[in-house]
Amino acid sequence: METPIEVHWSAPADEPHMRDLLPAAERDRYDRFARAEDKARFVTGRFLARTVLAARTGLAPASIAFTTECPHCGADHGKPRLPGHDVDFSLSHSGDRVVLAVADGVQVGVDVERESDRDIDRLAEMVLAAPERDALAALTPEGRKRAFHVYWSRKEAVLKATGHGLAAPMTALHLSPPDTAPELLSWDDDKAVGSVRLADLSP
Ligand SMILES: CC(C)(COP(=O)(O)OP(=O)(O)OC[C@H]1O[C@@H](n2cnc3c(N)ncnc32)[C@H](O)[C@@H]1OP(=O)(O)O)[C@@H](O)C(=O)NCCC(=O)NCCS
Repeated sequence: METPIEVHWSAPADEPHMRDLLPAAERDRYDRFARAEDKARFVTGRFLARTVLAARTGLAPASIAFTTECPHCGADHGKPRLPGHDVDFSLSHSGDRVVLAVADGVQVGVDVERESDRDIDRLAEMVLAAPERDALAALTPEGRKRAFHVYWSRKEAVLKATGHGLAAPMTALHLSPPDTAPELLSWDDDKAVGSVRLADLSP
């Protein structure tokens, strides 16, 4: 049976009662963001995570302490996790969207990307596998932009589920074409391939 994934969307907000839930280290990080929109995306994500996880676990939102230790180097930039509970979650924010995905007993990853006028052809070299670059090249410029962002967010979601983040090469993942059902076709680290399930969401 497929595991249900709970997904919550929000617009960024920055209210005093949301900031009040940030523990000291997260409050320091919040204070270091220079731009108001970055502060709002960060505090909204952490507020969503704490309130949703509190409802699932029975913990008080303010008592929820995340670990962020990187499994590769031990530094403080790993996937946020809630120790002691068999629940996994993933956060993403871009533009005026914040999204949280939560699931029990599996690793979950989510990504939202605001479409931008980035240099798609240059980025494609760093993000896409060769067959994906060929699929992109066959599209109109507007179609290329959309397809690139679809590939990007599907790949980043996989790498956020595992906790690799962008430390792993995105070109190593080979996905189904962007106008078809999302599927991980192959990956250098291919032990994971058979167990990965992808879904597109509407933000
Ligand atoms: C995770 C990562 C892909 C996020 O990229 P992004 O597009 O800038 O941001 P998104 O909005 O999609 O996601 C950010 C959220 O991902 C989560 N996150 C951070 N690191 C993560 C990781 N390694 N795996 C999964 N999720 C991670 C956090 O919740 C973060 O939001 P928050 O700190 O505001 O709560 C990127 O920051 C990354 O690759 N980090 C790890 C870098 C690393 O490991 N480097 C060296 C390894 S030794």
